[in-house]
Amino acid sequence: MVQIGFIGWRGMVGSVLMERMQAENGFSGFEPIFFTTSNVGGQGPALGIDVPPLQDAYDVKLLTSLDIIISCQGGSYTKEIYPEVRKQGWQGYWIDAASTLRMAEDSIIVLDPVNRTVIDNAVGSGIKTFVGGNCTVSLMLMAISGLIESGHVEWISSMTYQAASGAGAKHMKELISQMAALGNISTALLKNPATTAIALDQVITSELRKDSFPTENFSVPLAGSLIPWIDTLMESGQTREEWKGQVETNKILQTGKTISVDGLCVRVGAMRCHSQGLTIKLDKDIPIEEIYQMIEGANQWVHLVPNDKDSTLKYLTPSAVNGSLAIPVGRVRKMLMGPEYISVFTVGDQLLWGAAEPLRRILDIIRRK
Ligand code: HSE
Repeated sequence: MVQIGFIGWRGMVGSVLMERMQAENGFSGFEPIFFTTSNVGGQGPALGIDVPPLQDAYDVKLLTSLDIIISCQGGSYTKEIYPEVRKQGWQGYWIDAASTLRMAEDSIIVLDPVNRTVIDNAVGSGIKTFVGGNCTVSLMLMAISGLIESGHVEWISSMTYQAASGAGAKHMKELISQMAALGNISTALLKNPATTAIALDQVITSELRKDSFPTENFSVPLAGSLIPWIDTLMESGQTREEWKGQVETNKILQTGKTISVDGLCVRVGAMRCHSQGLTIKLDKDIPIEEIYQMIEGANQWVHLVPNDKDSTLKYLTPSAVNGSLAIPVGRVRKMLMGPEYISVFTVGDQLLWGAAEPLRRILDIIRRK
């Protein structure tokens, strides 16, 4: 029986992957082996199936006996162990959530509703390394691949509103701790109907600026504020998160024609949904009705939200999308700059389509090949 090793199943992306696999009856037909970096012999996940004790994630001999390894453990683990298993001549499939191997020549970035042909060709030609894309890029492509497929997109400017989860589990908790601190300091003021908004703001601002305000992970307040910086500085002046937009988009699509993607990536106080405001430059004037159809026809998860207030508030917010696979796309209209300029706003769960779901699906694709 095919043996599949799971590494990093307990972390945030890993546990969402476990949930999704369970929901899709994804643990049948193979032998799962769960690994740990800290608790060898411990108990594996409670999945309602027999799970052997946890194995050592650094046991290269055991790893190289597997058919498929799927890692959500993070970049340092991949950096250390992936070269080791390949050095042993291991020919199995390595599936990874981390960015370490994304731009490697012999890896494919997986997002099958968008690049199934690229994936099938890669599997057919013996590629064995499949990596999930950057969440922002994957969510953008899920939203507008129908438009991109038309071949008329010249460039995309993406302004992002990224959730705390993209920074990690501790950051999600810190966001809520910050909110709690603001809630605590303002409870009495809010109870008094005579409190003015300006008085409330003074208390909040002073709380945000206190040394005691919980900022250990974000370094600064996110609640009641935002952070226009994600990841490290690149030579271009972009942050690494911004840099990924163009390189990953084009690696996923592999159309042979580079689409420019650039913009600003900003952390906001949402929990796990990334939102993006896109400006899309087309190479010609396409009627808006056709644009709607292209967007909506791309895959079964994308849905067009009419450009009106009620629909937008109901469907096009992180709180509406959180925890679901829905990819709403709204605020779609021609811009004042000219009929080739399209404005779009989209929201997606960065732990689902942005991380775990493409991995769950590539595992399925590989198993059924
Ligand atoms: N880098 C992303 C973020 C998450 O910071 O939101 C992972 O793709």
